Amino acid sequence: MTAPSPTAAPDAAFVSPFQRLNDLLAPHSPGRAPINLTVGEPRHPVPAFVGPVLAREIDGFGRYPAIKGTEAFRRAVADWSERRFGLAAGTIDVERGVLPLNGSREGLFYAALEARRRWKGTAGRPAILLPNPFYQAYAAGAVAAGCEAVMIDAGPETGFLPDLASLSADLLARTVALYYASPANPQGAVANRADWLAVIALARRHGFMLFADECYSEIYRDGRPPDGVLAAAAATPERFAGVVAFNSLSKRSNLPGLRCGFAVGDPDFLSRWVAFRNMAAPQVPTPTQAVAVAALSDEAHVAENRRLYDAKFAAAERILGRRFGFATPPGGFFLWLDVADLGGGEATALRLWRDAGVRTIPGGYLSASGADGRNPGDRYLRLAMVESLALTEEALVRLVDTLG
Ligand SMILES: Cc1ncc(COP(=O)(O)O)c(C=O)c1O
Repeated sequence: MTAPSPTAAPDAAFVSPFQRLNDLLAPHSPGRAPINLTVGEPRHPVPAFVGPVLAREIDGFGRYPAIKGTEAFRRAVADWSERRFGLAAGTIDVERGVLPLNGSREGLFYAALEARRRWKGTAGRPAILLPNPFYQAYAAGAVAAGCEAVMIDAGPETGFLPDLASLSADLLARTVALYYASPANPQGAVANRADWLAVIALARRHGFMLFADECYSEIYRDGRPPDGVLAAAAATPERFAGVVAFNSLSKRSNLPGLRCGFAVGDPDFLSRWVAFRNMAAPQVPTPTQAVAVAALSDEAHVAENRRLYDAKFAAAERILGRRFGFATPPGGFFLWLDVADLGGGEATALRLWRDAGVRTIPGGYLSASGADGRNPGDRYLRLAMVESLALTEEALVRLVDTLG
């Protein structure tokens, strides 16, 4: 048997975790009426203004939209970003520093291709760095860009943020881009200003792009909004150079089916990327962009959304206590439970399905083996807190009854 390459992601990293879960559970019947806590798909209500805006803008479906988005969309994104991250008005370049995305997923994928196109390094095989566990689009982008996808542990030792101190000089010299998620999926860890400044400085020192995935930025606890990469970058002399933030309406506004996200940051990168995107990437329909303009100018539905998630985390604290290393995370809407003592995530997911009808996802399906052949997610189980409070409570009670 050959030893795993020190950095290459194994094939399992490129199979959908949900496909793997289907394969695991399909031969078994659920022990009780199923409750599905696998997919990070918000289920809170679609905001009431969405329907009327779409009806008003319906004629827009009769036209091909511009890849660059409407002026109104770009302005709404810039205004929202400036408000949200405490930037002075006019900090964001509305013309060159904002792009619409057909959901942040496609943007995260295509960004790798542009980063590779502009990378001028000669230090060996180009690499793209991803946190481990990771969102699959990062790995898919790295592979499509012909780069080595290198996993960086993001475990408890480093507060569930990527262990940047572990990166060798050789690797940094051939790095094209780094994906960095805050709040992180699945751990819910949040980068503070010092974390962001350190990662921005690292990217600039080694000449690689920083792709900050902030699609959970509005799902946070205790009224404490996470700091964002844009605020940190704006405080540096180079401003947004080499930095792009990815965000989305999917989680913030319960609109995962709308497929609307946005990229904000380095005007040089974004204005070149848009030319490439114009040949291949999906445009965002103008009625969709009009919904985004309305959604970004309303915070009431977002606050209500947080209230609903908070109630579910309060229920988790009540029902789980300190079991499975649980502590309410500062961001996101996942539970990331340590079930190593029960045989790990895969065995526990199977048991919960067979005995309790609760469908969860093994952490090892969301991460890959690192240099030492060890998959840091194997000991965890992820639960998405997206169902109603009553169903979430029911699932957690069943989980405790089954696992003890
Ligand atoms: C970490 C992370 N990034 C990005 C996305 C993509 O979201 P969307 O394409 O809906 O904007 C998701 C969706 O689940 C996610 O969990």
